[in-house]
Amino acid sequence: MARGNGLRKAFAEKFDDELRFFKGWIDKPKAVGSIIPTSSITARRMASVIDPGSGLPVLELGPGTGVITKAILARGVKPQDLYTVEYSEDFVRHLRRQFDGINVIHGDAFNLDATLGDKRGMIFDSVISGVPLLNFPVAQRIRYIEDLLGRIPAGRPVVQLTYGPLSPVPAGKGDYTVEHFDFVLRNIPPTQLWIYRRAVSGRRH
Ligand SMILES: C[S@@+](CC[C@H](N)C(=O)[O-])C[C@H]1O[C@@H](n2cnc3c(N)ncnc32)[C@H](O)[C@@H]1O
Repeated sequence: MARGNGLRKAFAEKFDDELRFFKGWIDKPKAVGSIIPTSSITARRMASVIDPGSGLPVLELGPGTGVITKAILARGVKPQDLYTVEYSEDFVRHLRRQFDGINVIHGDAFNLDATLGDKRGMIFDSVISGVPLLNFPVAQRIRYIEDLLGRIPAGRPVVQLTYGPLSPVPAGKGDYTVEHFDFVLRNIPPTQLWIYRRAVSGRRH
């Protein structure tokens, strides 16, 4: 009996994030953009672009239930140096319960000056974005990347996940380079990772 309860508890804990995520998708399909969270393999790959020795904080956008948040912390980023911006109130409550000491900001990643408030001038090491860009117009996606690149040093990456075959932000439309970073099959659905950077002056990309 006790063993049965233990198994039920383990099962419930394992699928708690998936259920929470699925509920988020039912409530706001366009904003959540996927029916289950990113795999830990994709999350680790995204977090691998961070330089934990830079001394700069990290910005995560659209953390959802926190799979990538966990990988960012495992990469060696101190909780107080991680800023996550999430639109859904339910996910924000969950993240605040789940992760001690990180900065969980409730707001819109497309309007970071307002969302970051007194932290709007902060320079980050890199940006990890899970916001479902394909659900927004192309012009808005370009403005988004341009805005993010203004918040990190030249040459440092914004990494973005997407389920489409092409970069969600087209090349040649602004002051940034576009690089295909990875295709992760072990993700549902399989996901593409793209990196955007601002050229370091004097260096060609
Ligand atoms: C595809 S899910 C990714 C969640 C998580 N990073 C993962 O990989 O499992 C997109 C997330 O972006 C959030 N989101 C959508 N639009 C947003 C916005 N404008 N500002 C901040 N977060 C947003 C959604 O609420 C959701 O948590």
